[in-house]
Amino acid sequence: MRFSEQFEQRFTEMLGHYPTKRSVLVPTLLYAQDEAGFLSDEIIHEIAGRLDLTDLEVRNVISYYSMLTTKPRGKYNVQVCTNIACMLRGGEELLEHCSKKLGIGHKGTTADGLFSLEEVECIGACSWAPAVQVNYDFHENLTTVKMDKILDGYKSKV
Ligand code: FES
Repeated sequence: MRFSEQFEQRFTEMLGHYPTKRSVLVPTLLYAQDEAGFLSDEIIHEIAGRLDLTDLEVRNVISYYSMLTTKPRGKYNVQVCTNIACMLRGGEELLEHCSKKLGIGHKGTTADGLFSLEEVECIGACSWAPAVQVNYDFHENLTTVKMDKILDGYKSKV
């Protein structure tokens, strides 16, 4: 398993900032996922070994965070919040709209590998509901028209 030089530098630097190795687990998983696209068995094993954890301990953490995945996803992961604030302001309709537009359901990935779709719990943008997160970008106060423009924008980046 080989990560980039940048990953290795970040990893080494992070280890120096925290009192225990385990503390760097989540950021390490995020950096690894950014490089590889998803957290494979090999990556999980490698990171567990580096942090003196078991593979199961790493998997337990991965399963807690919706932004971490052990399966390949699309280049753009569209996370639609349907928790209470978003639900009251059209979050469920937005999810349905994205599902129809992309032709995929919850946890699905488009055939071209460009988009994945997920229904998620609160993403911390309740004041600007309904909100959607695409990779690290937040989009707020959405309507179906705005959502179309956002998805088309990502498509045109390719
Ligand atoms: S309920 Fe949707 S961001 Fe909080």
